[in-house]
Amino acid sequence: MKFRVNIAILGATGYTGLELIRLLNFHKKAEIKCLVSTHNYGKNISDFYPGLNLTNCSKLIKFERIVWKDLDVIFLCLPTGESKKIIKKIPKEIVIIDLSNDFRMQSLNKSRSHLKKWVYGLADNLQNFLDLDKERVYNSNISNPGCYATSILSPLIPLLANRLVKIDDIIIDSKSGISGAGRQNIAQNLFSEISGSIRPYKIACHKHIQEIESCLSMFCNNKKVTISFTPQVIPINRGILSNIYVKLEKGKTIKDIKKYFSKSFFPFLKILKPTKVPSINDVIGTNYCLFNVFEDRIKNRIIIISVIDNLIKGAAGQAIQNMNIKYGFDQEEGLIFNPIFP
Ligand SMILES: NC(=O)c1ccc[n+]([C@@H]2O[C@H](COP(=O)([O-])OP(=O)(O)OC[C@H]3O[C@@H](n4cnc5c(N)ncnc54)[C@H](OP(=O)(O)O)[C@@H]3O)[C@@H](O)[C@H]2O)c1
Repeated sequence: MKFRVNIAILGATGYTGLELIRLLNFHKKAEIKCLVSTHNYGKNISDFYPGLNLTNCSKLIKFERIVWKDLDVIFLCLPTGESKKIIKKIPKEIVIIDLSNDFRMQSLNKSRSHLKKWVYGLADNLQNFLDLDKERVYNSNISNPGCYATSILSPLIPLLANRLVKIDDIIIDSKSGISGAGRQNIAQNLFSEISGSIRPYKIACHKHIQEIESCLSMFCNNKKVTISFTPQVIPINRGILSNIYVKLEKGKTIKDIKKYFSKSFFPFLKILKPTKVPSINDVIGTNYCLFNVFEDRIKNRIIIISVIDNLIKGAAGQAIQNMNIKYGFDQEEGLIFNPIFP
């Protein structure tokens, strides 16, 4: 086991890049060696975030200036399509943890053996369920799941894997804070357009649908899975709340679900006490996915409500958890924070 992991962050000035910098400052076994920027190299990270407490490597460098021999891991925090463009320039011995969408489908496609170098990093489920072939976890790069997908799959996969709920007729309604869209400068993300309103978008065509369906399908012998999914932007900075409507397996009850979770351990996936309704406020600033399960008025249907901080559990925190798993560190290393409240 390596004692210290040396790290580069690409896309360091974006939301997820910045969150990685902030969180890695608390990690005892990781050191940021360089911050890489496509548009702002030569400047200082404190030009963008004056409150950041970074003693070394505060200068942003361009990709071509990376000293690879000093590194173990590179986190890619780039917009969709950008990771694929630079992947071939990264030496094979460097571990890549990609936060974008670019390698998620490859990581979920078990049949394409030549692409097996990517693992889908749904961290809390990774060791127990997703990657039964442990060698692959240790020998592969990691494709970090999408933020909506994390809020949905984290509680759903254990239930499916243990045949507690059915795979058909799953309906999901998710609400996300605006930081989920990154720092892109577009009119519909302006305060004046977001505040005081809720906006559904990409109805039945969001990119996470395919990701969620492929992952669920792995747990029912590659049976085709179809979900209904409606994402919505709400006027808060951070956080995702997902309402997941799903049918119980024949003969199963909510009690069976609670019993299962009371006996299982997931470092950052926690079921709440009976009747406690999850709220985004409960997880802001943390790597937790909190959820609870409620009976619907429709017989044999339940409602799972789950919450995450999209920039932590949905991005930077889960990426660090994946790095911890990969290097055999305690999964919780550098990730134990209490929520910011109110
Ligand atoms: N925001 C979330 O909640 C969240 C959650 C999960 C996953 N993700 C994924 O993580 C990735 C990063 O998201 P983010 O929210 O951090 O995005 P962001 O705030 O928009 O930052 C992306 C950064 O990438 C860099 N970049 C490099 N090439 C670029 C290009 N051609 N166009 C624009 N920017 C470019 C920019 O920094 P420099 O110019 O300094 O390099 C930019 O700041 C995305 O793929 C996103 O889908 C985001």
